[in-house]
Amino acid sequence: MAVRTLKDGVYAVGAIDWHRRLFDELIPLPHGTSYNAYLIKGSEKTVLIDTVDPARTHELLANLQKLGVDRIDYIVSNHAEQDHSGSIPRIIELHPDAKILTNQKCKDMLIDHLCIAEDKFITVKDRETISIGGRTLEFLLAPWVHWPETMFTYSREDKILFSCDFLGSHYASSSLFVDDEARVYEGAKRYYAEIMMPFSTSIKKHLETIKALDVEMIAPSHGPVYPRPETILDECSKWISDKGKNEVIIVFVSMHGSTEKMVNHLIDALIDRGITVRPFNLTGTDLGELAVSLIDAATIVIATPTVLVGAHPEVAYAVSLVNALRPKLKFAGIIGSYGWGGKVVEQITGMISNLKLEVLDPVLVKGHPKDGDIAALDRLADEILKRHKSIGLIKEDQ
Ligand code: FEO
Repeated sequence: MAVRTLKDGVYAVGAIDWHRRLFDELIPLPHGTSYNAYLIKGSEKTVLIDTVDPARTHELLANLQKLGVDRIDYIVSNHAEQDHSGSIPRIIELHPDAKILTNQKCKDMLIDHLCIAEDKFITVKDRETISIGGRTLEFLLAPWVHWPETMFTYSREDKILFSCDFLGSHYASSSLFVDDEARVYEGAKRYYAEIMMPFSTSIKKHLETIKALDVEMIAPSHGPVYPRPETILDECSKWISDKGKNEVIIVFVSMHGSTEKMVNHLIDALIDRGITVRPFNLTGTDLGELAVSLIDAATIVIATPTVLVGAHPEVAYAVSLVNALRPKLKFAGIIGSYGWGGKVVEQITGMISNLKLEVLDPVLVKGHPKDGDIAALDRLADEILKRHKSIGLIKEDQ
């Protein structure tokens, strides 16, 4: 990765991981990612904001060399996760006088995860500032975006906010700044869905903090830098809004076609009632796409055949993920086909305990769906329509 300039004296020195396809051995990365680190030169001190994934340390070091950096005074650690902190030990080795500026929680985690010596740290408190000569850095604690120790660093004179993972995107790009807005904002929405959605209450607060600052540029730890912060801040405000949309997600697996037939009928019934439907056949779904859809949907329908008395394992996996992500869903339906019995409803209901959902009457059928079962699916579509109207997602006369 080349060195790029945010403004005079502020440089992007991180690494682009064009071909990484999985994060945390869980999250698909269709567009790769980047690990953004930034170098700020004050007239008295040189500061490195975060580092890179340890596998990319050589790129960070090469970029520092290109800039002719022979001394780093401070390493600001906004977040202890290793994709941003993993190169700190190597930087400390090369710059033994450098101190790590971070909050107490992050310090504890860096010691736990990276075995860094205690005397390498200077701890900072919320809103504490440090002058580096002509530039002032302010630290803002921002817990739960998405770990408990996360913080932002604000360069006051530059009006740049270094927001760690917050507002980032897994999006590898040769452009330092947002260029293809549609792709970057979709990437940022997906990133929010996968990482931040469980913490929407904390995020609301942090968003207000940022809006109260005079910010001209937001430089996250993944993906492009935002030169017009208002757009991404507005987008994020929409994601965290409590109000869902008139949308239904259907997650399903079908083994012999009966459950799929039910799903297809329900899709048509919902479309007939003016409801947006997003079906996901879990045997081939990118779970990131499912996560993005969860940001807006008001209802989820879980459709599964019965396997060994329970839900199909692919469905159980997806449901456990939905439960962990804590979307703003309000209603759930459970449908599917069984051979001779089972406990699908009890199992799935028990698996969505994080979500404050109203579970509508399930439609479970023995074998192939018959006329009475199809009628029950129509009634389920009616109930969903009624519920969406009841919370103002559709006008009463529609
Ligand atoms: Fe990009 Fe939470 O690390």
